[in-house]
Formats: sequence, C-alpha cells, structure tokens
Amino acid sequence: MRKAVCPGSFDPVTLGHLDVFARAANQFDHVTVAVLVNSTKDGFFTVEQRMEMIQECVKPFPNIVVDSFHGLLADYCKEQEISAIVKGLRAVSDFDYELQMAQMNSRLGVDTLFVATNPEFSFLSSSMIKEIAKFGGDVSGLVPEHVNTALKAEFLTK
Ligand code: PNS
Repeated sequence: MRKAVCPGSFDPVTLGHLDVFARAANQFDHVTVAVLVNSTKDGFFTVEQRMEMIQECVKPFPNIVVDSFHGLLADYCKEQEISAIVKGLRAVSDFDYELQMAQMNSRLGVDTLFVATNPEFSFLSSSMIKEIAKFGGDVSGLVPEHVNTALKAEFLTK
C-alpha cells in the first residue's frame, strides 16, 4: 500500500491545503493529514480544533485520515510506515525552505513530493486568513465554510 503524509500546522486549514490533500489522495492509496503539535508555540486554534476542522472537510475522501504528531516528521513516517511526504509549493518564496526541509527529511529516510498549488490559491496562507478575519474581512471562498464560521466565533471571544 502506498502511503503518504501531508504535514503542517493547518492553523486553520484553507482551501489551498484541501486541494493538496485531494491531489495526494488521488496518487496514493492512503493519506494521513498530520497536524504538528508544537510545544514551543501556542496556536490560534488548538490542535484538537484544527483536527476537527480538517476531519470535516476530508469526509468525502475515504482514503484520508487525520492525525497529530510531535517530534520529527521523519520518525512519525517511520512509525506509521509512510514512505512519502506530500507538500504544496505556492511560489518561489516557498522553495528555499521547502527544499531544505525535503533534503533534510530525505537524509532522515523519507522522500518529499511537491505538488504545484492551484494558482487560484497561490497567494493563500493561514496567517493571512487570520489577519483578514481578525479585521472582519471576507475569507469566504478561501477556507471551508465551517472554518469561516469558527474564525468568526473565535474572534468574537478574543
Ligand atoms: O504548516 P507548516 O508550519 O509550514 O508545517 C511545517 C512542518 C510541520 C511540516 C515542519 O515544521 C515539520 O515537519 N516539523 C516537525 C519537526 C521536524 O521534523 N523538523 C525537521 C524538518 S527537516
């Protein structure tokens, strides 16, 4: 069975991420969307909230599961017998850092495959989504509707 992981912070998940998950699910038998548990940085949403939001949008894909991990991604891949990391590349600005991580992960035993992000979403990032939502801007069409609702609810209480 060909297994891949789509790792990230997903704080929150965007339609750009979802596009990458769907394309990974097309190429692999089994895809795990793995949310990083970062002990040194508090997220905007908790890891549990982020996982629930992702779970909701991957319902139509029977071969995608959602999980969290901490520590090294390469170790998680080995534990789960996952042979490939799939990541989206939005623009040249992503490339240096992504290449460095891919080369390091390759050294640690796991290869990375990049998919070119759908141009519709090439400007999209979770931080930009939070910034726009914070000031009451419209992020519909950029995040799943339930994420939009969660953002509005969260900013009402913060
Ligand atoms: O969505 P992000 O924050 O760009 O995702 C980054 C992520 C989670 C893929 C990366 O930080 C990661 O893999 N962290 C786990 C620790 C690790 O393996 N570090 C070595 C990378 S070469």
